[in-house]
Amino acid sequence: KFSVLIAGGGSTFTPGIVLMLLEQLERFPLRKIKFYDNDGERQEPIGEACKVLIKEKAPEIEFLYTTDPEEAFTDIDFVMAHIRVGKYKMRELDEKIPLKHGVVGQETCGPGGIAYGMRSIGGVLELIDYMEKYSPNAWLLNYSNPAAIVAEATRILRPNSKILNICDMPIGTETRMAKILGLKSRKDMIVKYYGLNHFGWWTDVRDKEGNDLMPRLKAYVGEHGYLPPEVVDHQHMDPSWIETHKKAKDILATDPTTLPNTYLKYYLFQDYVVEHSDPNYTRANEVMDGREKHVFTECRRIAEKGSSEGTTLTTDNHSIFIVDLATAIAFNTKERMLLIVENNGAIKNFDPTAMVEIPCLVGSNGPEPLLVGEIPQFQKGLMEQQVSVEKLVVQAWIEKSYHKLWQALMLSKTVPSATVAKAILDDLLEANKEYWPEL
Ligand code: G6P
Repeated sequence: KFSVLIAGGGSTFTPGIVLMLLEQLERFPLRKIKFYDNDGERQEPIGEACKVLIKEKAPEIEFLYTTDPEEAFTDIDFVMAHIRVGKYKMRELDEKIPLKHGVVGQETCGPGGIAYGMRSIGGVLELIDYMEKYSPNAWLLNYSNPAAIVAEATRILRPNSKILNICDMPIGTETRMAKILGLKSRKDMIVKYYGLNHFGWWTDVRDKEGNDLMPRLKAYVGEHGYLPPEVVDHQHMDPSWIETHKKAKDILATDPTTLPNTYLKYYLFQDYVVEHSDPNYTRANEVMDGREKHVFTECRRIAEKGSSEGTTLTTDNHSIFIVDLATAIAFNTKERMLLIVENNGAIKNFDPTAMVEIPCLVGSNGPEPLLVGEIPQFQKGLMEQQVSVEKLVVQAWIEKSYHKLWQALMLSKTVPSATVAKAILDDLLEANKEYWPEL
């Protein structure tokens, strides 16, 4: 039986993840669940509610939540990390500052993602260091955002650490694909995919018999985007997400030979995105008014009543990939999964040091990346530009370099000029004083 630490205990996603872990106990048996957060006040209501949930469903599991790193990281097999340095208040600024300058405002893409990256690197490194100090044999399963920048930072700064970077985005889209195709599960499909995190393409989707499912998928996505006839996951049903799933049809038109990751809209339809954003009410506001309020109110209610009866908290099925990943490592299953790993020749005509998102077989020694081969000029060009942004952010963080961060912004396909890049940078710098290294 395993001992798991959720880092980012105060996250609005945590209760859903706990419910998911409780449903998966047969596959992934647990003896201990711990939460760690550096904000005790935020973590407490979530911790108190989860204490009730765990006691009701699996009283044999030991549970605690803490702000003390030693208590948290001692005797742990897996750390599941989903921290948000700066919380939603800073996400709001990541989105609103670029929009004020007429540029895409998004938490992981463009200037917002760059700002968030500068905040996250230190936070994730701290988690790795605690883990290595108190549970040196544990694995850190990281899905803290912006995953691309965080992954590049860990590649350079903690090259030998047992950290695996994974993202739920392709999984969410594959769940939609399965629904579109009328399949029971996304695991009924075998996919080929390559790219960077939040920046990639499916090149092949087949069923287990080897039948090509791409033509049917493309025909559907070309008309409806990734909006299946029925609701797939409630997390992504707010207006801005519906819009994102729909936009896949236009992204598909830019390269009809593949199926795109929806986040490519921020790089290929930047003007459209800006026109359709409300600079005074962004995704962060949607989340703060929606998920935040719901989860915290509901957690307080459960804690007070000491019972989860009639709860509206739901299992986050979306996060099941973390259990897939943990079981792959724990039981050496060699499951095929998309992970963010060092390219190292897997994409033949691309920087071997780039962190790319590609299929890997995962076992107890970690991921074995599968060969992708050569990629077309269009994707290669886009990816080279974007990976340079990610690398420059990490270099800027390490060297405390204003200039490199400005270059990162200039290179982002979301930013029209060096002048605009500088204006955004100066505003972001002012807003992030408390979080960024001093440049
Ligand atoms: C997707 C992305 C994540 C991102 C999340 C935001 O799942 O893969 O990287 O954090 O969306 O969702 P939200 O509901 O907070 O906008």
